[in-house]
Parts: sequence; C-alpha cells; structure tokens
Amino acid sequence: MTRSTSSPNYRQQTKAVLAGEAVDPITGASTPSIVMSNSFVVSEPQGFSINSFDEERPYIYTRWDNPTVQVLEGKLASLENAEDCACFGSGMAATAAVLHGFLSSGDHIVASDVHYAGASELIRSLKGSINVDSTRVDTSDLDMVEDSIRPGKTKLIWTETPSNPLLKITDLRALADLATKYQARLVVDSTVATPIATRPIELGVDLVVHSLSKYIGGHGDAIGGAVAGSRELVEHLRTTERVHIEGILSPFNAWLIARGTTTLPVRMKAHSTNAMQVAEFLEQHPRVSRVLYPGLPNHPGHELAKAQMDCFSSLLSFCVSDGPELAKRLPKVLNVIHYAVSLGSYRSLIYWLPTDEMLATAYLLDEELSQRYRSMAGEGIFRLAVGLEDPRDLCEELDQVLST
Ligand SMILES: Cc1ncc(COP(=O)(O)O)c(C=O)c1O
Repeated sequence: MTRSTSSPNYRQQTKAVLAGEAVDPITGASTPSIVMSNSFVVSEPQGFSINSFDEERPYIYTRWDNPTVQVLEGKLASLENAEDCACFGSGMAATAAVLHGFLSSGDHIVASDVHYAGASELIRSLKGSINVDSTRVDTSDLDMVEDSIRPGKTKLIWTETPSNPLLKITDLRALADLATKYQARLVVDSTVATPIATRPIELGVDLVVHSLSKYIGGHGDAIGGAVAGSRELVEHLRTTERVHIEGILSPFNAWLIARGTTTLPVRMKAHSTNAMQVAEFLEQHPRVSRVLYPGLPNHPGHELAKAQMDCFSSLLSFCVSDGPELAKRLPKVLNVIHYAVSLGSYRSLIYWLPTDEMLATAYLLDEELSQRYRSMAGEGIFRLAVGLEDPRDLCEELDQVLST
C-alpha cells in the first residue's frame, strides 16, 4: 500500500485533479471509486497492533487506513507541498489530534487571541484535561508572541491566518523563525486560505490544519478535517491519535471531499473575485461603518496578505449601524444568501457575531486583547462567507436589506 505522495512538478490546478488518484487496476475506472469496506482480506497473517507495522503496511481495517481516504490525503499533501497528510472526521478532530498528540502535562501553548471559536474553547480546556497552560496573543504582533513564550515549556504555537472572524493576517515565515528559535512547533489552521492561497509548509510551518468542511469540500455537504506536514509528524498522528482516539473520516465523506478538491483552484478564484466585488460594494454603502477583508487596500494586513496569499479567499466581516436590529431581521428577509453558520460553501452564508457574547464565551480575553477585538468588531460583526452566486445578485440583496 502506498502512502500519500506529492507531485511537485505540476501546477496547483493539475495537482488538484491528478494527485492521489490512480486508474483502478481491475475495472479501469477513470475516477476514484468509493471503498466502504471496514476490513481488508490480507494475503498472509498480520499483527493485531498498528505499532507492529511500518509505513508500507497493507490495508487491514478502515480505522487505520482506507484507499478512498488515501486519495484525498494524496491530493491534500500534494497541494500543500507537504510530505504527508492524515484526514480526520472533522476539523475539530484534526485540531484535537494535534493538541493531544504533541502536548503533555506541564507544557505551554501560545495561541492566537481570535481564531475559530471551537478550537479556542478546546485550547482553554487543556489546563483542566491534560494540565497544559495556554497564553493568548495577537499573533500578527510578533513582539507580543515572543514576550509570551516560556523557553523550554512552550511546545506549540497555534495560529490561524486569515483568522475567522476578524480576518487578521499573521506573518507565517516570521512566526516560523520565532518558533524555531524557541524550539516550539508552529501549527496553522489554514482553512480560510486553503492551499490555493497559501502553502504554509513552504514558509516553515510544521503542521497545517484544515477543516475540510469548508472550501476544500466546497459544497456544504460533508464534514472532515486534515493535518499536513512532515511524514514523521503526520505518521505519529495517524498511528496514535487517529487509530485510538480522534474521529476518523468516513470513506464516503472522503470521496465527496476529494471530488470537491479537484475543483478547488477554480472555485477559489471565483470565490475571491466575488468576495472582492462584495467587499467593495459594502465599503461604499452608507449604512456600513467597516469592512474587514484582506483584499481591500485599507485592511491592516493587506500588504502581508498580498505577499503571503495568491488570492484573498472569500470570508469577510462588516459592521453596520444598529447591527443587533439588522441581525433580528436578516433571517426573515434573505433569499439568495442563507442566514447560517459556516463558510466555504458554494452558497453564501451570513451570521451575526455579537462582541459581548463572543468575548464572554469563545474568547475570554484579557483587557488589552478585548480592547483590540472591540476596536475591530465594534458591538458586533456580520460574518459573510461569499459563495459562487453572481456577485451582482449578492450586492443587490445586501443593498435591499441594508437600505430598509
Ligand atoms: C477556521 C476553522 N477551523 C476549524 C473549524 C472546525 O471545523 P469542523 O467544523 O470541520 O470541525 C472551523 C469550523 O467552522 C473553522 O471555521
């Protein structure tokens, strides 16, 4: 059985199609089939523990390895320019695998002040569950990161760029240098960027985490997660966390997500073009007081985003006068856009994130970081994940709801 391989000589659009796939030797099928079998017939007796196998182990049981999941792992490793990739049942399972797989009692983690709320809550809970202290910092502020590092104790730095929901941009190369200086591993949740915009491994990041439920799957119909990185680190997660603890990805979802991945490069181009048009529209709307989108020249991380990203993706946030009132009305008046959580689907999704609630539940930041959050989000933001509809229809609908 072959592990995920990368195909570095092809460009991203070709890799998205080719990588991980092979013509079925029995049927000649050109596109990957779904292998749903739990068990695999082996040609000779095998051991009963994954620890007794090397990387070339045969397929034995789908919780260990599965051919359809491997198609997806091959595509993602190739797109990320990583040696290897392991898939999980959700982005949160991938997140938990990294945290539990590389932290132990007495360690310390430095994490972004604002990133995906579920990951933020999980990192905070590590103190009670495995005695790991965490410190929150604005990872776009490198001095603040360095001040928070406890040499010898800080084993992991966790960041997300662009960050959900404030769209802050972190300089991954500079942060990787800092992590190396203090012998900590740098992990980035690159769900919003996708490998089409940014390839963190090329910038010195150790592990890249994705929620595959977003742009990579792309159709809002399958939950999944992945971690890409060196063969050694990923194999550790595969043979410890995935086999024994964190949720595996079903082959059916892997098939759906791999199918989505083949069109990721073209979708990301369309997502980014649409988002730019919507962001520019919102920026000039009289009711909108602020738009946060890294593609806009006035975004504080715009220059860095231009250097670090090949496109700006399609997540944006905006503030309006009397946001709570609009938030109440929005679910009842939208037609093109859905009032729903999540991002990265072909369908545009919008959601209201009230600042007081976000700070009291997901983030629990200190005074200084809370002030930084408020200075960007005001009393609340509407997070809009721009989809693949015609952007003129999106702008017209937004204009209608903002003007009444
Ligand atoms: C940036 C980011 N990372 C991770 C996750 C968690 O992913 P999942 O929902 O697949 O567990 C999410 C979910 O919204 C997310 O937005």
